[in-house]
Amino acid sequence: MNDPTYQFSHTITRRPAASAVNGLRAEDTGTPDLDQLMADHDAYVAALRATGAEVIVLPALEAYPDAHFVEDTALCLSGGAVVMRPGAPTRLGEAAEMAPELARHYSDLRRIEGPGFIEGGDILVTGREILVGRSARTDGAGVAELAGIVSDWGYALREVFTPEGVLHFKTDCSLLDPETVLVTPRLAASGCFEGYAQVFTAEGEEAAANAIRFNDVVLMAKGFPRTAETLDRKGYSVVEINNSECAKLDGGMSCLSLRFNPAL
Ligand code: GLY
Repeated sequence: MNDPTYQFSHTITRRPAASAVNGLRAEDTGTPDLDQLMADHDAYVAALRATGAEVIVLPALEAYPDAHFVEDTALCLSGGAVVMRPGAPTRLGEAAEMAPELARHYSDLRRIEGPGFIEGGDILVTGREILVGRSARTDGAGVAELAGIVSDWGYALREVFTPEGVLHFKTDCSLLDPETVLVTPRLAASGCFEGYAQVFTAEGEEAAANAIRFNDVVLMAKGFPRTAETLDRKGYSVVEINNSECAKLDGGMSCLSLRFNPAL
């Protein structure tokens, strides 16, 4: 194991609560089916575990309907971790719930103190930099505070912009390897990935962009056959997970885990 951008020994997930059916969403596309949501979460955990990683499954938090989307609560890097300050008021308390688990793995654990806001879904770590997309949940002050912290650990941070109406920066992109991203044409058009190799989602399959490269596999939501075929042709080992219920809550593959390797 030697590439911290996609080779992970550990991952933290959280069991969805029964209250997950009341989670935030931009548009009402129907109430999530809780049994299906739980089954999909089990499949997700199993797929991560199959790569050899240690998968931690934290208990559900009924008070926080979106708490299974753990990615928004923290940023895990080589050198240290940062507890985020979510911009959604109903999610603010989730970050403090994650901190004790992170403290088990990291001796250098920092916190975004505010007044700014920042969510992990807006952060993409590549082989050369940390990209942070300003969004409705992540503001300039949050980005600036994170930039100050990660510079201590030797990271360069670049602020970019999440397209209007898109929840998070990583709703529209993911890392496939240190210099290659899977990206929607609408985000690529902003120019934020100039200099990177870019693989585009197929037309009408924009929701496929929220994938994760996790060790030897690319986990992606089921139902996007042309994008899956493109990745397969490029030599990636694709694992598809049903995401129909999380999708009703604007969630995808990256949202469901914090991925890290304390040894790197
Ligand atoms: N439902 C996920 C979010 O809006 O943060």
